[in-house]
Amino acid sequence: MVTDIAGYVASVFMRGLPFGFVPSSILAMVDASIGGKNGIDIGLYKNLVGTIRQPEFLLYDASLLKTLPKEEWVNGFAEIIKHASVKDAALFRELEKNRLAFYQKDKAALTKLIRRNVVIKSDIVQKDEFEQNERRLLNFGHTLGHAVENLYKLPHGHAIAIGMVVASMISEQYADFKNSDKLIEVLKRYGLPTLAEFDARKVMAVLKMDKKKEKDAINYILLNKIGHAIVKTIPIVQLEKMILSIINSR
Ligand SMILES: NC(=O)c1ccc[n+]([C@@H]2O[C@H](COP(=O)([O-])OP(=O)(O)OC[C@H]3O[C@@H](n4cnc5c(N)ncnc54)[C@H](O)[C@@H]3O)[C@@H](O)[C@H]2O)c1
Ligand SMILES: [Zn+2]
Repeated sequence: MVTDIAGYVASVFMRGLPFGFVPSSILAMVDASIGGKNGIDIGLYKNLVGTIRQPEFLLYDASLLKTLPKEEWVNGFAEIIKHASVKDAALFRELEKNRLAFYQKDKAALTKLIRRNVVIKSDIVQKDEFEQNERRLLNFGHTLGHAVENLYKLPHGHAIAIGMVVASMISEQYADFKNSDKLIEVLKRYGLPTLAEFDARKVMAVLKMDKKKEKDAINYILLNKIGHAIVKTIPIVQLEKMILSIINSR
């Protein structure tokens, strides 16, 4: 959250000041510091106001994580699981074998993991800074995730974990995806929630304000296999029916 606010203020104050980040949480190290998106929420709507402006530098020091509370490690791993799901099947297999405690203890493995995630995100951002193509894939889990995050005051990682589960179930119907169970297992393994009781109508009302909306359809990020994501334009009416049936089937 701090990188978003600092980046946003620095981008608009006196029409823009140079800035850099020293991320101190897993989430900021693997995701929020990278890519230049600096947004703030307005009411229930996530990142409704913001800029895209790149930091001048990023400075990483893994020893900062010594004081990071466990729940914030969990939060950050949601974005790591997202990166693996959309881009890196080998990383997904690694995550399936390990546990959070392993990365908390093994500094070399942790550093390698952070670096691998930095490379995944920065490669995509360098190719598509303004989210015309590939960068959209990084929104996997975020359409529904963002809607439930502020509505139910969930930590970002928890919200997108739930969003990823719903997106993977939609993927089974729309993209011939067969591995929702594997994704759910990995999320559970790292302490993330996979189910949530929510009011589908309220969620849909927020979802309709999503920035990725196009007329009466939403560009939804789906998986056709682990490590490979696609963008599918789904009419909002159809999406509403599907989300309702997913919730009711639980
Ligand atoms: N701009 C982007 O590209 C991007 C990417 C991912 C997430 N985000 C945003 O990030 C936000 C998620 O942030 P959040 O609010 O869940 O968490 P946060 O980043 O605000 O911080 C989590 C908590 O950890 C504490 N903390 C951080 N480093 C610590 C350390 N080293 N030791 C002890 N405590 C430490 C903080 O004080 C805070 O209480 C969401 O709003 C999300 O939209 C942005
Ligand atoms: Zn996120």
